[in-house]
Amino acid sequence: DAIGKDGYRHYMDKELHEHPLVIGQTLQRMIDPATRRVVLPELPFDLATIPRITVTACGSAFYAGLIGRYWLEAEARIPVDADVASELRYREPPLSKGGLGLMISQSGETADTLAALRSLRAGGQHVMSILNVPESTMARESDIVLDTIAGPEICVASTKAFTAQLSVLACLAIAIGRARGVIGEAREMELVQALLDLPSRAVELFGLGDDIRAAAAIIAEARDVLYLGRGSHFPVALEGALKLKEISYIHAEAYAAGEMKHGPIALIDKSVPVVASAPSGPLFEKTASNLQEAQARGGRLLVFTDPAGAARMGKIAERLVVLPEVHGFTAPILHSIAVQMLAYEVALLKGTDVDQPRNLAKSVTVE
Ligand code: G6P
Repeated sequence: DAIGKDGYRHYMDKELHEHPLVIGQTLQRMIDPATRRVVLPELPFDLATIPRITVTACGSAFYAGLIGRYWLEAEARIPVDADVASELRYREPPLSKGGLGLMISQSGETADTLAALRSLRAGGQHVMSILNVPESTMARESDIVLDTIAGPEICVASTKAFTAQLSVLACLAIAIGRARGVIGEAREMELVQALLDLPSRAVELFGLGDDIRAAAAIIAEARDVLYLGRGSHFPVALEGALKLKEISYIHAEAYAAGEMKHGPIALIDKSVPVVASAPSGPLFEKTASNLQEAQARGGRLLVFTDPAGAARMGKIAERLVVLPEVHGFTAPILHSIAVQMLAYEVALLKGTDVDQPRNLAKSVTVE
């Protein structure tokens, strides 16, 4: 390969270490350094009058879209429909006139996402794509492209492209919120500051290796793992479980923490580790009591939290990973990196082919 590993053992490790740079570069493209306001390229439609957004993608990119949905709904107060591309096309959802179709793809070539793009266009939607390859097919077929500045991603399992997608989605939510008059100047400044803080907080994550490896050692022994999160951290759980399956071949399932009592709790005993993404914030106490239910049934809890959540979680968790304190808006970005790092450490213990997992392809160009 023309792109080397720069002394890292795997491309995945190298790409995980590129998170701070990639988030910074991607934000630089979207935030004016002088005014510290989000700027979008000139759009052929008016953001203020879009009735609805339909987000679609595959794999990790879809989970980025799910996190984006929480931001767009909460901050921009716009209705968002989100579905995997292979389902969206065949669901025949009624589309609002002049709505926005939002595609997310690292490669810009994924067959299902491309087909969904075409069907959204045929349904009269404006087409916006968040892409890492500016000369891709999806780029050519979109009305507007928002670039992730992640650079080439070689490892089949996505890492840095995912957080770059999240960085763009967060900025888009701010821009749409402003256009719709629901985000004022002070709120925009606060959210932009939270985003600009991320690269240095992400660097701090690399100091948590020992804690993450201790959690990885427990997972590496397991056959099944349950990932839990609430709110914008539910898709973080989905991403964590997907990454674990992809590169370590351990079965993992992600659930919204509050839904655990409606099924997965039946699976829990000491052989099923439970990984939770649970920063302090409005949903913290609810998540903690969901986790307590799992612990009471013998579940071994591995909890990603922050300094404010550490004392409470420390009482129930077998292993804690205490991430740096960040704004609740950007916490899912930091937690996503942490669960990717966890999957990497498990894969190392399992001795799998991290960069080229069996049966998977970097870009899937068949439906
Ligand atoms: C494949 C890769 C995933 C990726 C997905 C979507 O399944 O293994 O890592 O998330 O495709 O790819 P895209 O290029 O559209 O983001």
